[in-house]
Amino acid sequence: MEGVELERIAHDVGTPCFVYSRAGIEHAWRQYDGALAGIAHEVCYAVKANSNLAVIDVLGRLGAGFDIVSAGELERVLAAGVPAERIVFSGVGKSDAEMAAALEAGVGCFNVESAQEIRRLAATAARTGRTAPVSLRVNPDIDALTHPYITTGLRENKFGIPIDEARGLYAQAAASPALAVRGIGCHIGSQLANIEPFLDALERLLALRDALAGDGIRLSHLNLGGGLGIRYRDESPPPPADLAGALVERLAGRDLVLVLEPGRSIVGNAGVLLTRVEYLKRNGEKRFAVVDAAMNDLLRPALYDAWHDVVPVKPRAGAPELYEIVGPICESGDFLARARALVLEPGDLLAVQSAGAYAFAMSSNYNTRPRAAEVMVDGDRYHVVRRRERVRDLFAGESVLPAGPVPA
Ligand code: LLP
Repeated sequence: MEGVELERIAHDVGTPCFVYSRAGIEHAWRQYDGALAGIAHEVCYAVKANSNLAVIDVLGRLGAGFDIVSAGELERVLAAGVPAERIVFSGVGKSDAEMAAALEAGVGCFNVESAQEIRRLAATAARTGRTAPVSLRVNPDIDALTHPYITTGLRENKFGIPIDEARGLYAQAAASPALAVRGIGCHIGSQLANIEPFLDALERLLALRDALAGDGIRLSHLNLGGGLGIRYRDESPPPPADLAGALVERLAGRDLVLVLEPGRSIVGNAGVLLTRVEYLKRNGEKRFAVVDAAMNDLLRPALYDAWHDVVPVKPRAGAPELYEIVGPICESGDFLARARALVLEPGDLLAVQSAGAYAFAMSSNYNTRPRAAEVMVDGDRYHVVRRRERVRDLFAGESVLPAGPVPA
């Protein structure tokens, strides 16, 4: 990766281990930013995709904004030294405490998703003597044509305010002295392979914005969310510059700041998961390669049946066999890949591709497995940006009941 041998990183840091390319992350972000240069815009990286401080820092240095969904993500972005006004706060279930923390920090905008949330934000802002900048996230009822678990812009999804109810809620929000109504937004889903659903959503939002202008409510920001897909296998989503170009075409000359919240398309293909083959075994007709990474490290195959390419770091000559690539966890759902034609020996190092987004970020400690180390490559050097967890970290917060007689 860049100028560093993955085998060297695996040797020094151990496996499993996530490795990210600084240049890859920067290249993807610049594609958005460059293609949007013709219009006012903010590219707010969706922190949930990969929330490592080093990733936030690299993007922050480029001038990125950040889309957060929790007080935890707020703290991370602030800890990376990013000014709070570059943060937009999304999410369907913000608590009082989260709202108060974000108000106190001075985030740039709250993306609110329901009538009750609008009232609660107004009350929290009034109580703390602040004005909350808000954008309403509407649900435009558009099919993003992606996996059902990550479709978010359909009427039946939990997200956003039904578009036909939005005008009434804007009127309520505009009437509240504790709220400053700034924008309109949506996020229709993730891993989209086409531009059309984005353009449909844009049309619906623009129509609503015009109607609101007629009501005397002027909005300066339009947030189209994130969602552009990446290639995992044979998908061919448009590059970020194509999406951005299509949006510029439709928005040029409009007095609007376009906000995007891309996550996966910034980091997804800038990272790999390194794992070593522990054992090869055969049960009946099936061959298994048991590796040292598992579903706790990379949940996407188990959760979505997602495909990640698996590539030997040093390919061997020989006749390939079909392998199930499985982890050490006690579940048959613990697989990283199925039926891959590979030539393998125990000890071989494998790179699981497209592991920069929703990989470490969704990892867990199931089976009391410490979470993997994370490394960032920068040119011909690499840096451990998160040390491997230690087992003692995992139960440090636990305790046992006081001593006493054993019940009969
Ligand atoms: N903005 C909002 C409000 C979101 O909910 C999301 C993702 C994004 C932006 C960023 O979307 P992206 O550009 O990354 O598609 N765990 C799933 C993906 C869940 C996405 C959730 N929301 C996966 O591994 O595929």
